[in-house]
Amino acid sequence: MKLFLITVKSVSHSSSPVQTVIMTAMMHLLLLILLGIAAGTDLEEKKGPFENTVLEVLEGTPVPFAIYQFQVGDPDVNSFRLSGEGKDDVRMSKDGWLYLENPLDWSREDNYIIKVEALANDKVVDGPIYVTINVLDVNNNAPFFNQSSYAAMVRENSPAGVPFTRVFALDRDDPTTPNADLRYSLVSQIPNMNHVPLFQIDPNTGEISTTEEGEHEARQSPGKDPDYTLIVRVQDLAGASETALTGNTRVHIVVQENLWVSPGPIHVVENWKTSYPQVIAKVQSNEPNAVYSIVQKERQLKFPFMITENGEIMLTEELDREDKDMYTLVVFAKDNHDKEVDPPMEIYVVVDDVNDNEPKCEEEESVFEVQEDEPSGSLVGQLLVHDDDKEGTLNSQLSYEIMFQFPATENTFLIDGTNGKIQALRSLRRKEQPTYSLDVRVSDSDFSTICKVVIKVIDVNNEMPLFEMTDYGSYTLAEDTPVGHTVLTINATDADDPDSGSSIIEFHISAGDDDKVFTVETDGKGIGHVVIAKPLDFESSTIYKLKIDARNPEPLMKGLEYGSESTAYVSVFITDIDEVPEFSLDVLDATVPENTTKGSVLLTVDAKDPEGKEIGFKLEGDSKDWLEIDADTGEIKTKQKLDREILESFEVTVTAFEKGEMSAERVVHVRLLDVNDNYPRLVETQGFICVGKPKPVVIKAVDPDSDPYSQPFTFALATNNNKKSPNWNLRQIDGTLTL
Ligand SMILES: *[C@@H]1O[C@H](CO)[C@@H](O)[C@H](O)[C@H]1NC(C)=O
Ligand SMILES: *[C@@H]1O[C@H](CO)[C@@H](O)[C@H](O)[C@H]1NC(C)=O
Ligand SMILES: *[C@@H]1O[C@H](CO)[C@@H](O)[C@H](O)[C@H]1NC(C)=O
Repeated sequence: MKLFLITVKSVSHSSSPVQTVIMTAMMHLLLLILLGIAAGTDLEEKKGPFENTVLEVLEGTPVPFAIYQFQVGDPDVNSFRLSGEGKDDVRMSKDGWLYLENPLDWSREDNYIIKVEALANDKVVDGPIYVTINVLDVNNNAPFFNQSSYAAMVRENSPAGVPFTRVFALDRDDPTTPNADLRYSLVSQIPNMNHVPLFQIDPNTGEISTTEEGEHEARQSPGKDPDYTLIVRVQDLAGASETALTGNTRVHIVVQENLWVSPGPIHVVENWKTSYPQVIAKVQSNEPNAVYSIVQKERQLKFPFMITENGEIMLTEELDREDKDMYTLVVFAKDNHDKEVDPPMEIYVVVDDVNDNEPKCEEEESVFEVQEDEPSGSLVGQLLVHDDDKEGTLNSQLSYEIMFQFPATENTFLIDGTNGKIQALRSLRRKEQPTYSLDVRVSDSDFSTICKVVIKVIDVNNEMPLFEMTDYGSYTLAEDTPVGHTVLTINATDADDPDSGSSIIEFHISAGDDDKVFTVETDGKGIGHVVIAKPLDFESSTIYKLKIDARNPEPLMKGLEYGSESTAYVSVFITDIDEVPEFSLDVLDATVPENTTKGSVLLTVDAKDPEGKEIGFKLEGDSKDWLEIDADTGEIKTKQKLDREILESFEVTVTAFEKGEMSAERVVHVRLLDVNDNYPRLVETQGFICVGKPKPVVIKAVDPDSDPYSQPFTFALATNNNKKSPNWNLRQIDGTLTL
């Protein structure tokens, strides 16, 4: 089927002149078929039942053109009636072919709705149906600009990329299709001196702005008008097709002088004596009626500037460069509605230095040390001096000169006149002179100051500490020798110069005393006292073999090392002392209820003998004979009934004794807690009431227990059978009562 169609298609091309022939009905149908095939459409797809149908037709399609064949069921149908818009451009053949008689135009009308009725001998037998014909746009309209030329104005230094004008093109094709999708481009720029584009166009919007080069290069050319002409092109099909249609226009651009230019950087000399406020610059907006304002860019309190109505920037007071060396002002130009008419402009104000600061010595007296025997030219130190005036200018460029030296020996020191470095001109000897004082004059171009320098010649640590003897023998200490006791005195000497770190002697116990039981006290001059730092304990250690090193805090001269003469030994023997038993607790307290059952244990004391001997306990001071102690276990028990009302708290002494001789004591504090073990008792058991002249009697009660087991009491009259007495009455008054 397909093959067949392709064959016919080639026929249709060669037979195209036939289209112009006036047609008979038969011819007509043949043509319809051929044209349908020519359009590349399968005839089967162009058929359908007689019902509402939506069809599409390209605009400008050559006619006649077969659109669609409706298949009517009724064989009697012999004509159709068309009505509605567009019915004049289409026809319906007897056999149901809808065909186009006049070309359609999308821009005239993009859709038609035609009512169709099927007739048999002029009578409607089917329908009406509604046939919608959508006209499809073809790109047959070129875009065009809405002005044949445009005129624009741009300021010099107009920022790149910010549009100053635009062009606008239209296309009559369907805007929903690429046929009306427009792109703008620049064809040329006249003049184009250096072949650098000064302008650019936004391809989508047609907005024209300066390029980076244009921002700087687009210049006014006085006397010539216009300054630049741009040829602008617009293309449809998104500018991306060779078949795109094109329109052109011109844009004439006049460049105007930009008045809104920064006058900065503005230089103001510090400490300027003039009348304030003082005009230092002027700005001018491109908008003649602009309102100016000025702010400081940094957040700082001090802002000694203001701006006048006509754009004059004024300084309100003297400036100090050492306080702040640059200000950044931001100037705004706005209209009366607070809208910016020019972009905010930054202006720098540079404070120029004047030499108003003298050099300052960083130290009141700079002290340098130099080792003796260093070669000539060795560096002693660098004198540090500061000048607040601007760095890198003559105002802060300092020169150094030694004015005075004590003692005044020739050719001893040299100072570098530019940087203050001091060198020794010869090897120095401490014996010859241990310190030198210098006065150095430091000057800038206007001021000078004197800085004091002290140079100390320091000893080389070429001697090490030597013990008078390296074996101090042995010492015996009783175990109970107190902390702080001096065991022995050791003695070392150092031949380096006294008063220098090279001759100070420190002693370190470097072995034999891991628990740091001993320490060496010294004043650094060679005598050391070996003292007890922690309690001795025969039971943990009986002998210490101390190794003691004598050392300088300063490092030894290169190549020198501490030898055996700098180390001494001493042995310390500890002798055992029969020590008293030790209680496990120092404070012994017991608090028990007074009704504790006889024989119960109040407390168990615990003690040990350091020598491990057997311990016994005894108890003394028990005045009431209430307690007893188990001599072996240390259990303290009650042996009587206790009574808080007799004795509320008491102390007894427990002694732990070795079953030889030594003993130790501890006091045991016992406190009894109250229980309600006493009845209240009436203070008086008799009272008299005179019948002739009755007076109330106050009855009082007491209870030896303490709160809450005593007052308040409740009282009642003892009666027979709990009957209330007819004659007597009781009234409560807090533990007392009336009759
Ligand atoms: C061209 O179109 C633009 C954008 O719609 C419009 O602002 C301008 O006034 C038009 N120019 C003319 C001459 O119609
Ligand atoms: C220390 O030892 C040295 C050298 O044996 C001696 O001359 C000096 O008198 C001793 N000093 C003391 C305080 O014992
Ligand atoms: C001691 O007295 C309290 C309060 O009266 C009671 O609860 C406790 O049982 C008594 N204890 C003994 C051993 O009698």
